[in-house]
This record gives sequence, structure tokens and C-alpha cells, in this order.
Amino acid sequence: MTLPRLGVNIDHVATLRQARGGREPDPIWAAVLAELAGAEGITIHLREDRRHIQDRDLTLLKETVTTRLNLEHSIDPAIVAIAIGARPDQVTLVPERRAELTTEGGLDVVGQGDRVAEAVKRLVDAGLEVSLFIDPSPRQIEAAASLGVTAVELHTGRYADAEPGPARKAEFEALVTCGAAVVAAGMALHAGHGLNYINVGPVAAIAGMAELNIGHSIVSRSIFVGFEAAVREMRAKMERASASR
Ligand code: PXP
Repeated sequence: MTLPRLGVNIDHVATLRQARGGREPDPIWAAVLAELAGAEGITIHLREDRRHIQDRDLTLLKETVTTRLNLEHSIDPAIVAIAIGARPDQVTLVPERRAELTTEGGLDVVGQGDRVAEAVKRLVDAGLEVSLFIDPSPRQIEAAASLGVTAVELHTGRYADAEPGPARKAEFEALVTCGAAVVAAGMALHAGHGLNYINVGPVAAIAGMAELNIGHSIVSRSIFVGFEAAVREMRAKMERASASR
């Protein structure tokens, strides 16, 4: 039984900094504290509109992160070039719409096959590990596997948003079934989006789960309990869930 890695998404520390356009809070501080509290990775999303994470953050985090730096970005060729230059430990390709509040759905690997394939090829040729953020759908998993990526991150947003009861159970079952398909296809299984201290347990205990990327709930709790405590509590929830599997 393996415990999934916790990748702490620090985008919203940068959101708070950008609210005043100043220097604090600095996401670099958050990354250091997350690692001290046991995070096995730091995740950032360099959006085309630079609404939170800035190019300077990417450069500094590449220098300072001692675990794994996971850079999320779109398939836009200019951003792909930045990722190749920055050389993070992993890139996760995500869909991006300027008007969205947050990443709303998974990448459409079936519908946008050629554009996704081109971005993946450039990244893989540059020697980078590539993960694709997709909805829990067998067709999307099949398409992802055909591109030869290292990992797939299943979008847990529908599970997180579903009412407790049959609706959430159905969304959870979809994650379990699709998780097994990801592992059977030889890809690493990751998950994220909307995970919090209450709903993380079952997802952490899915067979083969290798990495969870969690941001909003940790940053929200950190305001009240501090960043290290918020990361430690999430880590403890994941450990308990994996141990009870
Ligand atoms: N994984 C991916 C691919 C994401 O785009 C996001 C949101 O930026 C997350 C995980 C983290 O989601 P949340 O902030 O809801 O925990």
C-alpha cells in the first residue's frame, strides 16, 4: 500500500499577493513551509493571464523547491516554451479559459487531440514528465494513453461538488473505475481539484493513487491555523485514509 504524494498548490497565496500588487504574501514562503510540513511536491499554475503565479515565481521555485515542482499550464505554444525553458520536475497540461474562476473541466484530449499531441511531443522531446488533467472518462484515458504521457490527473471536481449520497457515490465510483483504467494503461494515477479535509479520504485510498494536488482548502485553512499546520493536517488525513485501505 503506497501513500499518495501531497502536492500543495500555492496559486492562491499568489492570488492574495496580486490583490494588492505588492510583494506579500510571497508564494515562495508558502512552498518552503509546505515542504517543512511534509508536502512531497509544490504545484503552481502559470496562467496565460498571469492572474496569480508570475514568471518570477516559477524561476525562484525552480531554484528553491527541494521536493518536486509540478507546473500546470495550457497547451498554448508560448506557455509550453516557457515550461521547456524552466524545466520543472513535471508539467500538467490543463484547459484554460480566460473568463473562468478556476479550471472548470478536464482537458479534452479526444476533441483537441492534435493540439494536445503537439504540446505533449514538444515537452516529452525536451525530456519533461507530462501529466494530463482530464475528466474521469474512459475515452479521455484511452486518448491520453495513446500520447505516451507519464501520468493522468483525474479531475475530482464533480465528486467534490456532488451532494452526499447517491450522487457523490456515483462520482466516486467513476474515479475508482477510471483510476484502475489509468493504472492498467501503465500511467501514474494522480487526482485533484476541490479536495478538502472532509472529502479527501476516499480519494487518497483509491488503489494505485500516486499523487493528490490540493490548493484552495489548504490555503483557506492556513489563514486560521497557519500554513504548516494546514499542510500537516491534510497529510494526516491522507495517511489515515491510506492506512485504513
Ligand atoms: N489540479 C489541477 C490540475 C488544478 O488545475 C487545480 C486548481 O488549480 C488543482 C489540482 C487544485 O484544486 P483546488 O485548488 O480546488 O484544490
